[in-house]
Amino acid sequence: MSFDFTAHERSLAVDQQRLSSLFGSGDLLPLWIAEPYVPLAEPVRTAIETRSAAGWYGYETRPDAVKEAFWAWMSRRHSWSGQGLSTIVSPSVGTSIGVLIEELTQPGDGVLIQPPVFTDFKPLIARAGRTVVRNPLVLGEGGYQMDLDQLAALTAESSVKLMILCNPHNPVGRLWTEEELRAAAAICTENQVVVVADEIHADLALPTMQFAPFAKAAANTGVRWAATHGPIKTFGLAGMCDTLLITDDGEIAEGFKGASSRLHLTRNNVIATSAFEAAYTSGGDWLDGLLDLVTGNLERLHNGLGEAISVMPHEATYLAWIDFRRLGLDVPQLKDWLVGAGLALSPGHWFGREGAGFARMSIAVDPAVIDEAVRRLNDHL
Ligand SMILES: Cc1ncc(COP(=O)(O)O)c(C=O)c1O
Repeated sequence: MSFDFTAHERSLAVDQQRLSSLFGSGDLLPLWIAEPYVPLAEPVRTAIETRSAAGWYGYETRPDAVKEAFWAWMSRRHSWSGQGLSTIVSPSVGTSIGVLIEELTQPGDGVLIQPPVFTDFKPLIARAGRTVVRNPLVLGEGGYQMDLDQLAALTAESSVKLMILCNPHNPVGRLWTEEELRAAAAICTENQVVVVADEIHADLALPTMQFAPFAKAAANTGVRWAATHGPIKTFGLAGMCDTLLITDDGEIAEGFKGASSRLHLTRNNVIATSAFEAAYTSGGDWLDGLLDLVTGNLERLHNGLGEAISVMPHEATYLAWIDFRRLGLDVPQLKDWLVGAGLALSPGHWFGREGAGFARMSIAVDPAVIDEAVRRLNDHL
C-alpha cells in the first residue's frame, strides 16, 4: 500500500510550543519526535470516528477482545503466543517501568540501562531514588553491540536489581538477536537481576529482519522478566495511551496489579480501546506499507548525504541514527548547527553522553520531507 500525503492534513509541527521551547525556534522542520508522520491506518481512524460518533463516553469495561486481538497479532507477526503469560493493561510504558522500579527494587538499588538509550529511563530511575547504573553500548566496525562482559561485571555488584533492556533499541536502531538476548538473560539470571524488556518498537523491524521477543529468546534461562508492548508507537497512538505489560512471573504480575489498583491505573479510555483493537485486528497492511516507506526513506537519506554525514546501519524503528562526528562539533555546537540548518532533530547527547556527535531523525514521513531534510543538511555544510 502507498500513502496519500496530499490528503494528509496533519501538520508536522503540531506541537509548536514544545518545539520552540526545546530548540529556540518554531520555524524548523520537526523530525525529532518518535511518531509516524503519515496518514494513519484507515481502520483505526474509522474505529475512532465510529466510537466518537456514539455520543456516550462513560465507564466501560475493556472487552477481552482487546487482549485477544493483541495476542492474535503477536502470534501472526512474531510467532509469540500468550499462553501462560499475564497480560496487564497499563496507561503507558513509562507508567509500567516506574511501577516496576518501585515494586522490584529498594531506594538506593541500582537499575541498569545501556546508553545511548531512550531518554525517559534515566529520570524514571533517578526520581524513584534508585541509582542509574550505565552499561554503554559498544560501537565497533559492525555497529552497536551490548557490552556483555561489563554487563556481567556490573550485575554481579549486589546493588543492581533491575535491567531495562530496549529491544528494538531506540535510538540506535538495533534489533537484538536471540543469541544476544539469551546471553544477557543468562547473565541476569546468574546475578538475580530482573529484566524489563521495553519492546514498544517491536513491530517496527525492517521487512528483511525479524523481531525476537525477549521472553522467547530467554526461555529456559530462568530469568525473571516483564515486557512492555502496545500499539502506541507502531500506529501513532501515543496521545491515546493504553499499553500492555506482559510477564510469566506471578509475583511480578500480582505486584503490578496491586500498584495498579492502589493508584487507579486501571481506568480505560473508551476511544483508545476501539483504536487499540482495530489496530491489531486490521492494521497489518498499513504497517507493511509503513515499513516499506521507512526502508525507502532510509535509502533516500543514505544516498542523499555525502561523506561528512552518514546514516548508521539500521535494523528497526522509524528513527534514523545519523553520524555527524566528522563535522568535529561539540555537544552544544551540533544542536546549534542543526537548528542553523533549519532542522529539529534529537541531538544524540539527549540519550546519554555516548550519543554525542549523533542525532536521531524520524523517517516515517513523506519522502519529499526526507529530500528537504537532505537538502538543508547538505546546503549547511
Ligand atoms: C523505547 C521507548 N519506550 C517508551 C516510549 C514512550 O512510551 P510511553 O509514552 O508510553 O511512556 C518511547 C517513546 O518514544 C520509546 O521510544
